[in-house]
Amino acid sequence: MRDTEHTLTQTETTTMRAVVQSAYGENAHDVFDQIEVPIPDIESDEVLIRVAASSINALDWHFMTGTPYFLRFQNGFRTPKRLIPGADVAGTVVKVGSEVTEFKPGDEVFGDIGSGGFATYAAGKARYLAHRPASLPLEESAALGVAALTALQGLRDWAAMKPGDRVLINGASGGVGTFAVQIARALGASHITAVCSTANVETARSLGADRVVDYTKEDFAATDDKFDVFFDNAGSKSLSQSRRMLTEDGVLVMVTAKKGKWFRPMDRMLAAVIRSKFWSQRFISKVAEASGGDGTVLAQMVEEGKLRPVIDRRFTLDDSIDALAYQATGHARGKSIVDVS
Ligand SMILES: NC(=O)c1ccc[n+]([C@@H]2O[C@H](COP(=O)([O-])OP(=O)(O)OC[C@H]3O[C@@H](n4cnc5c(N)ncnc54)[C@H](OP(=O)(O)O)[C@@H]3O)[C@@H](O)[C@H]2O)c1
Repeated sequence: MRDTEHTLTQTETTTMRAVVQSAYGENAHDVFDQIEVPIPDIESDEVLIRVAASSINALDWHFMTGTPYFLRFQNGFRTPKRLIPGADVAGTVVKVGSEVTEFKPGDEVFGDIGSGGFATYAAGKARYLAHRPASLPLEESAALGVAALTALQGLRDWAAMKPGDRVLINGASGGVGTFAVQIARALGASHITAVCSTANVETARSLGADRVVDYTKEDFAATDDKFDVFFDNAGSKSLSQSRRMLTEDGVLVMVTAKKGKWFRPMDRMLAAVIRSKFWSQRFISKVAEASGGDGTVLAQMVEEGKLRPVIDRRFTLDDSIDALAYQATGHARGKSIVDVS
């Protein structure tokens, strides 16, 4: 197909189907509607993508409920500013802004664009996007967004993981955890202990974990094992319990903590960082950054056979509101995809 066939022509419609949030609430069906809205305009550093798929993250649930409440300082107190869910997208570029040099119409891309994936078109900063890996179906590339970036940046950058490190991953079977096990292996971990529930033990093992602890049967903190890196996706242990499992110069990367309405998990994550100033071990808590460069690193890992998204459920745009409700259970196995095209 010629490039020009991918461009958005004037004869094409100027509106699109999108899932739009009108209020905050616990029930996805109360706050989202599927409606026709204008196709977004793009800035000079953005591209317009015809969306093939999006994937769901815990952050979509935070924006749906408007919790923890401090999130509303940025997103609006009563009415949410973030209208269309779906930070992660994969699709075909149909239009590029005047400053964009790295993509052209027809390119198939993926990445974390912040919001807008639950729609037939989405505008995203070119610097947040990467070319999709040839060996992965375009729709599945939508899974390589927020969760994969969190696992990569958490292990490689925040923990500064080294080959030979012993790594513990709590919450090893969800969106972030399934990537974290594979990336820890790709970065040269000498031993990976993965923590998940009974139904996900085999999945964690198949991804490369050397030891899998079923947290419903065994307390993984009741061990004399010491880890160089503890990557915590679940926040189910106290800071002192977590610290006891670290080597003398080990590092705890907390990507979450127990959730609450006002500040949690941010208060506990901040407390951990402050307390670690007094200990030899490092406690790190950060939010992953959208990055096309890191998208390219992830795509490379896919091409080298080191990384593969675990796809849990597939939804369509028509039932994507159910997808948001499913994510809220906190027990997804890998990533759920919303097929848009
Ligand atoms: N800091 C950041 O930039 C960042 C980015 C992305 C996500 N996050 C946060 O990271 C967390 C994980 O995200 P996700 O996308 O992976 O969520 P997810 O897909 O919902 O996965 C949650 C995982 O937690 C596990 N889990 C639940 N209760 C557990 C327990 N008591 N002990 C051990 N594991 C338990 C689940 O496993 P079972 O089903 O086997 O119980 C599942 O694997 C979320 O809280 C999210 O808000 C932070």
